[in-house]
Amino acid sequence: MVSRAVDTLMNAVIQLEGVSKVYQAGEMAVQALDDVSFRIDPGEFVALMGASGSGKSTLMNILGCLDQPSAGRYLLQGVDVSELDTEELADIRNQQIGFVFQHFHLFSRTTALENVELPLLYRHRERLSGRQQRKLAREALEMVGLTDRAHHHPNQLSGGQQQRVAIARALVNGPELVLADEPTGNLDSRTSEEIMAVFQSLNQRGITIVLVTHELDVARYARRTVTLRDGRITSDEPRYTTTPSRPVRQTLAATESDAELVR
Ligand SMILES: Nc1ncnc2c1ncn2[C@@H]1O[C@H](COP(=O)(O)OP(=O)(O)OP(=O)(O)O)[C@@H](O)[C@H]1O
Ligand SMILES: [Mg+2]
Repeated sequence: MVSRAVDTLMNAVIQLEGVSKVYQAGEMAVQALDDVSFRIDPGEFVALMGASGSGKSTLMNILGCLDQPSAGRYLLQGVDVSELDTEELADIRNQQIGFVFQHFHLFSRTTALENVELPLLYRHRERLSGRQQRKLAREALEMVGLTDRAHHHPNQLSGGQQQRVAIARALVNGPELVLADEPTGNLDSRTSEEIMAVFQSLNQRGITIVLVTHELDVARYARRTVTLRDGRITSDEPRYTTTPSRPVRQTLAATESDAELVR
């Protein structure tokens, strides 16, 4: 209990202390993470890079409380997550962390708005009325510049718009931390820039972002780059060149006109 209080005072969103992860696949043990330590403070925007198989997704799964380390400690907002029970972990995943994936993971039979509302249905501490849910979902869609597509189904949206719906869904519970594993991996370079402009605007609102990417063009939107190799951190550098090639507003407007073509 004492250590929890002290850790909270330190105010890191994420603190990893000597985290290792070993996967046991039959006879073979794979060391996916090997003694990884770092901290991420509130409001940071971190790109996680490294070759295929270097451990990026493994690390993201641990950061997102989807998996536990084999050794070491993970403190999320100062709380050692290994001390939490299944329900507390589910609450944290739902309330404190927003997830964005490469393949969007939207439900095809429901509208953009309904997709965004979904995480609100899993709040078991504080139930919301249907009206409150729609209000929050609309606000989240507004943050990604997509209110005019609220009633479209995913197949009526461009890839970039689908990813924006997925980002809105990640935001709907007001998380302080957004984890994105290759969110631009399925998008062309121009759409990737638009999505990165969205992440940048969220970061400017104070949301902490950790994002996996293979592309330097994508990583340059972050303010810090952590590189993994064979499960170990090989570099951890600040980036000062964060200015996107086009202003956020202009990029969002460009996407809206593209969308007309898709429809
Ligand atoms: N469930 C699992 N069981 C066994 N080994 C695994 C499992 N998941 C990942 N691995 C192994 O752990 C290592 C790290 O995998 P991980 O998926 O974290 O890499 P990555 O950096 O995300 O790669 P990519 O860029 O291809 O997505 C790899 O060697 C992989 O084969
Ligand atoms: Mg991966």
